[in-house]
Amino acid sequence: MCSSKGGVGKTTVAANVAAALARSGRVLAVDVDPQDSLGRAFGVVAKGRDDSLGALLEDGSVEARAVVRHAVAPGLDLLPAHPSLEAVATQLAATGGLTTSVRRALRPLLGEYDHVVLDTRGDLGALTLAAVCAADSVLTVFTSDPGSALGAVRLAAFLEQHRTYENTSAVLVGVACAVWDRQGRAARDVAGALAGTGLPLLSTRVPLSRRVPSSVLAKRPVVLSSPTSAVAAAYVALADEVLVATGKVPA
Ligand SMILES: Nc1ncnc2c1ncn2[C@@H]1O[C@H](COP(=O)(O)OP(=O)(O)O)[C@@H](O)[C@H]1O
Ligand SMILES: [Mg+2]
Repeated sequence: MCSSKGGVGKTTVAANVAAALARSGRVLAVDVDPQDSLGRAFGVVAKGRDDSLGALLEDGSVEARAVVRHAVAPGLDLLPAHPSLEAVATQLAATGGLTTSVRRALRPLLGEYDHVVLDTRGDLGALTLAAVCAADSVLTVFTSDPGSALGAVRLAAFLEQHRTYENTSAVLVGVACAVWDRQGRAARDVAGALAGTGLPLLSTRVPLSRRVPSSVLAKRPVVLSSPTSAVAAAYVALADEVLVATGKVPA
């Protein structure tokens, strides 16, 4: 989950898509944002570096399983972030180990999961690159903000560039609307602009819903807290669409 912009619904999509994927497979959700919002979406808060992703990035001998929070939701384990991740990343950047750090940290865990969902912060900086370097596929989102279309275009260029550098082989599997306001024209205009870019626009549009901010307070993504709602159905459909786009299930 990646975008050059913040506040566009990335963490909400990551949490709900992870919960949706966990209905049919074992999922690890990984927070690669020092603002630690993905963990908070499930009510998980790390106390410091030692019980969060930073510990694994900093010291390759730390037992990854000991840092993972098990069964935070049905079928779903979570590797939380903590603000100290910022300092760990700065340190690793200085020694040259940052780009491959997330990939190295997750390697011992991969055999236990069918899907790993990584959430990143709203930039295309070095920590985001470390997450992309660990990923097979990248999903991005747009909203009614025209800047979010530009964000998707920039992300596509960023991936292209880092594939050239052989920092990653991840491909952009989809661009989805994370906050679709049926009444407003703006999101429609942004979708129209994106359709002309040739980027892989997904058909699922997550509706604007008051249930989403409430779910953060309730510490349960809507897929879990309001499973029969329209917005939960949209996240489940998005997860299905991503599985098809990544080739994990046939169309
Ligand atoms: N479909 C939606 N309907 C209503 N509010 C949403 C929706 N998706 C996200 N939000 C709200 O938008 C804000 C930003 O979402 P978030 O997922 O944290 O974005 P990001 O991770 O890109 O910064 C949050 O307050 C979240 O509750
Ligand atoms: Mg976020």
